[in-house]
Amino acid sequence: MSSVVESLSCFVRSSIGKKILVAATGLVLVLFVLGHMIGNLLAFAGPDAINAYGHLLQTSLHGGGVWIARLGLLAAVVVHVVATISLTRQSRAARPDAYGRQKAQVSGRAARTMIWSGLTLLCFIVFHLMHFTVRNIENFGGPDYEVVLDGEKMHNVYKMVVVGFSHVGVSAFYILSMVLLYGHLSHGVSSLFQTLGLATYRSERIFKAIGHAYALLILVGNCSIPLAVLAGVLK
Ligand code: HEM
Repeated sequence: MSSVVESLSCFVRSSIGKKILVAATGLVLVLFVLGHMIGNLLAFAGPDAINAYGHLLQTSLHGGGVWIARLGLLAAVVVHVVATISLTRQSRAARPDAYGRQKAQVSGRAARTMIWSGLTLLCFIVFHLMHFTVRNIENFGGPDYEVVLDGEKMHNVYKMVVVGFSHVGVSAFYILSMVLLYGHLSHGVSSLFQTLGLATYRSERIFKAIGHAYALLILVGNCSIPLAVLAGVLK
């Protein structure tokens, strides 16, 4: 084994290496969620805006751009989940309690439930991809979902979003998932600063506030779409 591979495998097996991997992939996902929300909010600018945006994503780099993004995101999600599960196992194994009692921890509810909110979000992502990308939960394909804009035929993302969220159960599921995402993001973002070694006793409160504010922004932005559809604002 070359020394580079040996050093890399040592890094990946160490708990600090795993923490850095969780933080780096978490940052990619944090930025993706913001970019995706901004793109989704184009629905409020009207059908043409979000349809043209969806078309741009699908056709960038002759259709290769979307695949590069998909593979990058998939890699980030897989590394994030695998490293987190491994870290959780490692820290549980390092905390043997002779009496089988749970030790009191100085951490919030979001921190203690990170692994579970994360795994539940993974289920949401699978549902979401089946819903709007593979489109096998409801049929959002065919001529009914095609529009022509500036002489170009494209998928009617706006109509898909409006029809998709007009089911109360589906909207409720999305909103519930966004509440979970709020908890996961608020703790995740403030932990990022800690892993980067930026959080001191004094600045910790500020980083926690940044985490909450960021997560709240994503919660409000994302929930506004299903809520606007149910309220008849987007139709
Ligand atoms: C209410 C909130 C959300 C709305 C309205 C929404 C909307 C959409 C829409 C319309 C698409 C399909 C785009 C197209 O066909 O051009 C999409 C794809 C996608 N969304 Fe969301 N999304 C939301 C939340 C999320 C969240 C929280 C995540 C991740 C944590 C996420 C991850 C993805 C991914 C990975 C894709 C697939 C992109 C692709 O491969 O084409 N979405 N979303």
